[in-house]
Amino acid sequence: MMLPVVARTRAELHDALSGAGKISLVPTMGALHGGHVQLLKHALPLGDTLVASIFVNPTQFALGEDFTTYPRTMDEDLRLCAEAGVSVVFAPTLETMYPHGIDGGVTIDPGPLGTILEGKTRPTHFRGVLTVVAKLFGLLEPDFAVFGEKDYQQLTLIRLMAQGLCMDTEVVGCPTVREADGLAMSSRNRFLDYRERKQAVALSRALDAGLAHAADGAESVLAAAREVIDGATGIDLDYLVLTDPFLGDLALEETAEGLAARLLIEGRVGATRLIDNAGLTLGS
Ligand code: PAF
Repeated sequence: MMLPVVARTRAELHDALSGAGKISLVPTMGALHGGHVQLLKHALPLGDTLVASIFVNPTQFALGEDFTTYPRTMDEDLRLCAEAGVSVVFAPTLETMYPHGIDGGVTIDPGPLGTILEGKTRPTHFRGVLTVVAKLFGLLEPDFAVFGEKDYQQLTLIRLMAQGLCMDTEVVGCPTVREADGLAMSSRNRFLDYRERKQAVALSRALDAGLAHAADGAESVLAAAREVIDGATGIDLDYLVLTDPFLGDLALEETAEGLAARLLIEGRVGATRLIDNAGLTLGS
């Protein structure tokens, strides 16, 4: 099996991408799992050259978060990338991504949407995400960039950034991949011990319960999801909200029947923060 070319600097990237044609990019922080493989599969037919970036971006972690312990599994990542048809892996040095240091330089302000939900407990997170994604778009000039719907607020903000800042990259969302019991795949799942892993499934169960009540309207959806969490052990709930698909209306009302909506949840299981979400149509 041919391993992908690995580029670590701007010059190496330039060489690796000469004659690449249309580029499809899957940005990652490594520790690849089945969810990433699905993103790569989704991205492969979109362009002529499939590129994965692997960079644990320090600016999207706040002090005390898991930046230093975030899993780093480069050899296994390269093997998975090769199997998925990746031609080039961009695994930049810190200096390549942050030539002015991580505390200096220009950053992207996510605006009000960056301050709600995940942004409420992690106020600097989305600034870090958008800044690094903007840099990746600048360096690679991808025609397509594929992101998972699991990080729904991130996907929504990246879409808004690409449109709002007139970037030439089409941002493509890819459905969440789940374990057999429903838990959304995440690099952080490997932090869960045996008991926490069993408890964590309450998040996706809550979403399923909510979806099963879509026909009854917004209040029923939230009540059903809430009941699952109330009856579960080991989940420290941060938020459970029903909103429109653009995350614009956090107070969707019963009168919104027939509307597309998104149910989002975040909870801590032990020391691990997990998020999940699902789309639904109210009144159907
Ligand atoms: O979703 C992720 O893995 C990261 O937030 C991303 C988009 C690669 C930016 O660092």
